[in-house]
Amino acid sequence: MCGIVGYTGPKNIRDVLIDGLKRLDYRGYDSAGVGVRKEDEIYLQKKKGRIEDLSKEDIPEGKAGIGHTRWATHGKPSDENAHPFVDCRGEIAIVHNGIIDNFNSIKDELIDKGHEFSSETDSEVIVHLLEENNDGDLLEAFKKTVTKISGSYAILALRRDSSELLVTRNQSPMVVGIGEDENLVASDAPALLEHTKNVKYLQDGDIARITGDEIDIWNEDDQLIERKTKKIEWDLEDAEKGGYEHFMLKEIFEQPKAIHESILGRLTNFDEFDLSKYDPNAIQFIACGTSAHAGFVGKYIFEKIAKIPCTLEFSSEYRHSSPSESYPLTILLSQSGETLDTMAAAREANQRGNDTLAITNVLDSSITREVDEVMYTQAGPEIGVAATKTFTTQVVMLYLLAIEMGIKRNVLSKDQADKYRDELRRLPRKVESILNDKEKIRDMTESLAKAEDIFFVGRNINYPVALEGALKLKEIAYIHAAGYPAGELKHGPFALLTENTPVIAIAVKDETFDKMLGNIGEIAARDSPVIVVGDKDKELEKLADDAYFIPDVPPLFSPLLVNVVLQLISYYTAYRLDRDIDKPRNLAKSVTVE
Ligand code: F6R
Repeated sequence: MCGIVGYTGPKNIRDVLIDGLKRLDYRGYDSAGVGVRKEDEIYLQKKKGRIEDLSKEDIPEGKAGIGHTRWATHGKPSDENAHPFVDCRGEIAIVHNGIIDNFNSIKDELIDKGHEFSSETDSEVIVHLLEENNDGDLLEAFKKTVTKISGSYAILALRRDSSELLVTRNQSPMVVGIGEDENLVASDAPALLEHTKNVKYLQDGDIARITGDEIDIWNEDDQLIERKTKKIEWDLEDAEKGGYEHFMLKEIFEQPKAIHESILGRLTNFDEFDLSKYDPNAIQFIACGTSAHAGFVGKYIFEKIAKIPCTLEFSSEYRHSSPSESYPLTILLSQSGETLDTMAAAREANQRGNDTLAITNVLDSSITREVDEVMYTQAGPEIGVAATKTFTTQVVMLYLLAIEMGIKRNVLSKDQADKYRDELRRLPRKVESILNDKEKIRDMTESLAKAEDIFFVGRNINYPVALEGALKLKEIAYIHAAGYPAGELKHGPFALLTENTPVIAIAVKDETFDKMLGNIGEIAARDSPVIVVGDKDKELEKLADDAYFIPDVPPLFSPLLVNVVLQLISYYTAYRLDRDIDKPRNLAKSVTVE
C-alpha cells in the first residue's frame, strides 16, 4: 500500500519520479505528490487524486527527489494529507508507507514542543521527529527517529542541503536500484525497471544512505553491512500494457505463458526444496482474498492427490484461533509476499512449531524471510489490482507440490503422477482456447451489467472458484456478488432469487454433476437467469439461459479453466459499466496494514 520512489543522479527528475510513480499507482491512488531538491530548497507538489493530476511541467529540474502515491489510512484523501511532508523549517521532506502505531503520543509531544502540523496523517510525525532529533547530523537523527516509532513503515527522506536520500523499512518493502552515477529506491521493482535491473532488497531495520555513486546500508544493530546485489528477472515490457486497454486484460491473456513458465523444469525435476524433510499429517493453507481462494482450491487438490487432510484459514483470523495439538505444514500464499496479515500468520505458524512454506510471486519479498521454504510463481509482475495470473500460477504450484507429496507418501502411483503432469502441460493450450473465445464471453455479460446482485455457485473443487468469481466481480464491477456451495442456496439465499438475480453456475462432470443439475433446475424454477460455465452437456444446454463450455479437462483440473472464464466475465461486465478496472475504488494491490 502506497507507492514510493526516490532518485538521486543526473537524469531529468520529473520524468523519473512521475514515470516511476505511474508504475506504482496500483499500490494506492488516493493522492500523489513529489518533492525535489532544487538549489538548496525543497520544491513540493502534492494533490488529492491520481498521478496524472499533478502538473508535471511545474516540477523543477533537480538532482534528487522523492515521490509518493497514497492509499489512505489515517486521514481522508486530500491535498493536505498527501505526501511528501516537510518539517517546520523546510529542511527535510519524507514519504511513508505503512502505519505509525504510536503517532498520537508522539504528535502530542511534538505539538507541545511547538511543531506545527499540516495534516491528519500518522506519517507527518516522522518528519517533525527528524527535525527534533537533528542536531546537524541527519543520518544520526534518522537512526534515532526510527527507534522512537513503532508500526510498519517504509520511509524515504530528502534533504535540502545535499542530494542524498535516507531510507529505512520495517515490514514494508523497499528496493534500492543500482545505476551508473545514479541510484534509485522504490517500494516495488517495476518502478526501477526503466533504469536498472540490479537491486538490493533492504531488510527490516536497515537504514540506507543513498547518493548518486554510493549506497551505504546499516543493519538494525547499526553495523555497516553489504546487502547482496540481485538481478530482477522481469523486463520493462512485463510492466507495461503492451497494447491492451487494461493491465487486467493483459494479465488474463498472459496466463498460458505464466502457467508454462511456472511448470517449466519443475515437472521433470522438482528440486525446489527437499520435500523428504516434510511428512505432514495435515496441511494448513493460510492467505487473504484471491490467494485464500487459491489455497481453498489447494485443499481439494491435496486431499485428492496427496491424501492429506487440509484446512484453509484467512490470515487475519489465524492468530486468533487456538493452536492444535498437531504440527501441520503451513502453506502461506501471497502474490506480493508483503500482505501484513499473512506475514503475521507466518510468524504465528512458526511460533506454533509448524513447518512453513510460502508461495509468492515477488523475489525476496518479506514473507520469504519468515518461512522455512519458498516457492516462486513465475507469473511476472501483476499490476492490475485484481489478481488473475497469480491465482492461476499459485494453483499450478499446488498441483505440482501435491503430485510430489503424493509420490513421497506412496499414495500416488508413478503412472497417475505422469497423467497429472500431462494435464498440467496441456493447460496453457486450453486456456488459450478460452481466451480465443473472448468475444463470446463478452456477449454473455450484457445482462449481467444490468444486475444489482449476482450469485456464483459451484460444488466440490469449484466451490472456491465460485467464491473467487464473486470476489472478482464485486471488486472491479462494483456489483454485489456472493459465492455459495450450490447445495446451500436453498438454506437461505433462495429468498433473494428473482428474475433479476442472475446465477452463474459452475457445472463440471465430477461426482457432483447430477446434484448440480438438480440445483440448476431449482434455480431456474425461481425464474433466475442461469449462466452455466462448465462441461458440455445437453441437459445443461436445456436448463441454462446462457452457457460457456470449457475445453475437455478432468474435473480435478477444471478450476483453472472455469476461473479464466469467470475472470473474463468480470472484466467485460466492469468494462460495460465503465469502471476503473485496473484501479478499483478503495483498493490497493498489496495490503500492508492489518
Ligand atoms: C483480489 C486481490 C486480493 C489479494 C489479497 C492478498 O483480486 O488481489 O484479494 O488476493 O489482498 O494479496 P497477496 O496475495 O499479495 O497476499
